[in-house]
Amino acid sequence: MNNTAILACQQLTKIFHQGPAEIKVLNGVNFTVNAGERVAIIGNSGSGKTTLLQLLGGLDVSSSGQIQVMGQVLSTMNEQQRGVLRNQHLGFIYQFHHLLPEFTALENVAMPLLIRATVSVQQAQFRAEAVLKQVGLAARRHHKPAELSGGERQRVAVARALVTQPVCILADEPTGNLDGKTADEIYQCMLELSLTQGTALVIVTHDPKIAQRVERVYRMDNGVLTLHS
Ligand SMILES: Nc1ncnc2c1ncn2[C@@H]1O[C@H](COP(=O)(O)OP(=O)(O)OP(=O)(O)O)[C@@H](O)[C@H]1O
Ligand SMILES: [Mg+2]
Repeated sequence: MNNTAILACQQLTKIFHQGPAEIKVLNGVNFTVNAGERVAIIGNSGSGKTTLLQLLGGLDVSSSGQIQVMGQVLSTMNEQQRGVLRNQHLGFIYQFHHLLPEFTALENVAMPLLIRATVSVQQAQFRAEAVLKQVGLAARRHHKPAELSGGERQRVAVARALVTQPVCILADEPTGNLDGKTADEIYQCMLELSLTQGTALVIVTHDPKIAQRVERVYRMDNGVLTLHS
């Protein structure tokens, strides 16, 4: 691990407007992730964790403050430019797998590479097969999401996030929907792949066990992020 910041934000705020009401969800968040680092964010429901990940990934825009992804300042970019930056450098894993139901595991995993269009269809398939093997799902590659278990679907989602070799994965309660044993297996898989590929991980989780297995744990309280351990 080196100390190059791949993702950072300073004094980040987010205010949602609902009619005349203002909901202040992030209240001056400072956060840095260095290359290869694994970080967990814990905190009560509604404290602002998902909102922070959405902003860091350029899926939504802040009300004030700055975000840099690989040194590039998000606030200077339009939606399309943010999309390109996200596709180049970041991967997402959500609580629900968000796989495309009509496509096989292999096709779902190959999709981000095909969207990038920097490799051939054949190369994308080859790479997708390799990553599916890494998450232990080679034998299920031709199954559609409905033909997979919940844990298997989430492994496919992990493979899809990793297939582009992102510098950082943003995972929002990736095992929130799974039993404890399956959740452990998915985390093990994510942590191993993060180590072998040097991918940084930002994991929002309620799981106290994962918090013991990462370098740093932050806590979000009413839009304020502090170092927990
Ligand atoms: N688009 C929106 N418009 C208005 N309020 C919003 C919007 N999105 C989120 N909020 C509010 O922002 C607050 C933080 O939401 P967020 O989803 O970030 O919480 P969270 O920490 O991820 O919670 P959980 O652990 O339940 O997933 C909540 O009070 C929510 O109601
Ligand atoms: Mg959330």
